[in-house]
Amino acid sequence: MEPLGAEIQGLDLSNPLSPQERNALVEALDDRLVLVAHEQKLSDPQLLAFSATFGELDPPGPNPYGIPFNEEFPEINVISNVIENGRPIGGLGAGEAVWHADMTYIDIPPRGAVLHAHEIPENGGGNTYFADQYAAYEALPDDVKKQIDGKRAVHDASRNSAGQLRKGYEEVTDPRDTTGAVHPLVRTNARTGRKALFLGRRKDSYILGLDLDESEALLDILWAHATQDRFAMCHEWRVGDVLMWDNLAVLHRRDSFDENARRIMHRTQIKGVEAIA
Ligand code: OGA
Ligand code: MN
Repeated sequence: MEPLGAEIQGLDLSNPLSPQERNALVEALDDRLVLVAHEQKLSDPQLLAFSATFGELDPPGPNPYGIPFNEEFPEINVISNVIENGRPIGGLGAGEAVWHADMTYIDIPPRGAVLHAHEIPENGGGNTYFADQYAAYEALPDDVKKQIDGKRAVHDASRNSAGQLRKGYEEVTDPRDTTGAVHPLVRTNARTGRKALFLGRRKDSYILGLDLDESEALLDILWAHATQDRFAMCHEWRVGDVLMWDNLAVLHRRDSFDENARRIMHRTQIKGVEAIA
């Protein structure tokens, strides 16, 4: 098993990639699931161009305010706690973001995301963690693998990963009524044939066909298993980092940070493909 995470060295990502470079990154992402390049400086069009070498882009999910954060480049999502003219310039604030994968509440969730650090708090905090869901699946006891085989769960669309209600959504009071896409609990990578746990987000998830208490109990077991330190890595951000992750094979979460510090990230999301299982 390859270790989780790898560093890209010797590339200036503001330049177009050659087909060989692109293919090397695609393969590395399949193997290592999280790739980071340091000391990059990408304008928004350059971030879009770099991201688009891996496929079509998805627009960001609906934010709590109903207006794109980046009106000039609406495909770019802004992740920030900074408030300008009384309005947040980005999403998620300075609080913790609990374990999740991005936008799994849509039918074809993004296969990857690219996050570029523009400003990072000087005193630390805001680290981002990734957990390898191939390793998590492979380490499940056989009886649990059997139990989840063929089962599907609903992935809640109503809240973002900071727990804020998105504009136009209502609070879920019973997970059986959750609105969002339904996905198999286990996803197979079309290129490698490897199976990953695919949990999305814990809150208001529900495994179809089970009683609510059975679903809650099984989800608690799966989430406790999937987010163990032994499957995870921590990224400590530096200004200029460009980090991409395989959104279908890792979960991620973020620590809180000093709300008086400034943290600004620009993000893109690369459209996914139909699942094969
Ligand atoms: C995201 C996210 C992590 C971070 O961009 O999807 O969860 O480090 N952000 O802010
Ligand atoms: Mn996220």
